[in-house]
Amino acid sequence: MNQKYRLKFHLMPPKGWMNDPNGLCFYKGLYHVFFQYAPSGPCAYERYWGHYTSPNLVQWKYEGIAIRSDCAWDRNGAFSGCAFTDDGMLELFYTGNVEEEGDYDYIRAGRGANVIYLCSEDGIHFGEKKLLLTNADYPSDYTCHVRDPKVWKEGNTYHLVLGGRKADDTGAILHYCSKDKMQWEFREEIGAEENFGFMWECPDWFVMDGQQLLMCCPQGVEREEYCYQNPHQVGYWIVPLRETGAAPVSSQCKKTVEPKQFRELDKGFDFYAPQTFLSSDGRRILYGWGGVSEMDSEYRNTPIIEEGWQHSLTVPRELTLVHGVLRQRPIEELKELRYDEQNIAGGITDVGADAFDLEIVCTRNRIDAHSQKSGTDTGNETLCRHSGMEIQLSEDVLLRWENGVFVLKFLNDSGCGRKERKAKIAELRNIRILKDVSMLEIYINDGEYVFTARYFPRDPVHTVLRLQGCSGATLWKMKAMEVDFSNAEECSE
Ligand code: FRU
Repeated sequence: MNQKYRLKFHLMPPKGWMNDPNGLCFYKGLYHVFFQYAPSGPCAYERYWGHYTSPNLVQWKYEGIAIRSDCAWDRNGAFSGCAFTDDGMLELFYTGNVEEEGDYDYIRAGRGANVIYLCSEDGIHFGEKKLLLTNADYPSDYTCHVRDPKVWKEGNTYHLVLGGRKADDTGAILHYCSKDKMQWEFREEIGAEENFGFMWECPDWFVMDGQQLLMCCPQGVEREEYCYQNPHQVGYWIVPLRETGAAPVSSQCKKTVEPKQFRELDKGFDFYAPQTFLSSDGRRILYGWGGVSEMDSEYRNTPIIEEGWQHSLTVPRELTLVHGVLRQRPIEELKELRYDEQNIAGGITDVGADAFDLEIVCTRNRIDAHSQKSGTDTGNETLCRHSGMEIQLSEDVLLRWENGVFVLKFLNDSGCGRKERKAKIAELRNIRILKDVSMLEIYINDGEYVFTARYFPRDPVHTVLRLQGCSGATLWKMKAMEVDFSNAEECSE
């Protein structure tokens, strides 16, 4: 089949459907990326765990399907979950989704949400599934939407968080503790003081530079002009550090977080359900799903659905915390795929490659409160305030920064219904654009802001770049990652 829009340096399904990254880890010399997988078609509903491995995050092997929804506890889907490797095995925790037959709404009744466990010595072959938690183990004021376990260890205690939807249609996180990973005791709920969405999915919980972060995906937060523009949200809170290694308590103290303190991770159209893990050298790395649920969005991926596949992950992004704000930047390893470096000063260039990495240094693009007030504009600042910065990719996409607002705009139907995303950015220092055939990842100010978006340019090879208001740019063409698909026949079902 002609697959004009297949990606070169993003992980995508061998065929069919992909959503969330799952079970990310480094184990016995290999990186493991599992993912929500429906091999039977680009819009199919079965949910398995597909499995990729890599020694270095740029050469990959598709290992086949690691988890099938083949037992009573997960018969309607092996939903999202995590890997845990601290005890010398590759252990997986995931949600077994069960939908009872009958006349149910599947929110308040008719759905089972089981936490299931399985483990592997070699990282490829997994043993028997064990049932750890069922609906009966969740507090009684929850609906049946509870899922996506993330597990970690502090001292002698194991911790597990789940995302949930409460009976009053507010989202929250459930936190459990255990001494042996098998018996879990409820410890606390973490919710918002004011309404902040009806369901929180895919939690992650980790410590960076002595700060504790809670990441999750609240659904149903009201859209605002400069934030929460996607159908569902993704972001994080810095939460007060708890004492580590404390014994589990069963008091139901509710820990609250403030919606105002929530910081979005990505401002683009196609980003959801991220998870993080530690690389072999201790970097905190994030993968997101480079897509959103089409049921809730007004944009589509029709051209790739016609090619028999849908969605991908983002590139792996290294996280750093600078003054309490997470920065994301494509991992260094991706630079190995660069070739054919060119410096482009401005004006117009035809890239002549369907995948590229473009680093742009911006002219002093800054709103200067002092010069605005006093009217003493000079040089660059005047230029910038009046002409701002503009980058155009062929006739398809415009990036514009003007008066402290950054806009990503689709100029034609290459966005398949995607129109515009905006962010308030007072000062623009640099922009990095990863363009991978039909995927764009735009990193602003060293990754303080990121926009991820799919698009389907009529001619993915000849991107004509127009740069204005930038003091210099370096462009590299990007090679394809090596991916060994010799195990892919396994998904012909
Ligand atoms: C997020 C999500 C998860 C769930 C999975 C099912 O995209 O809805 O909450 O486990 O997808 O595929």
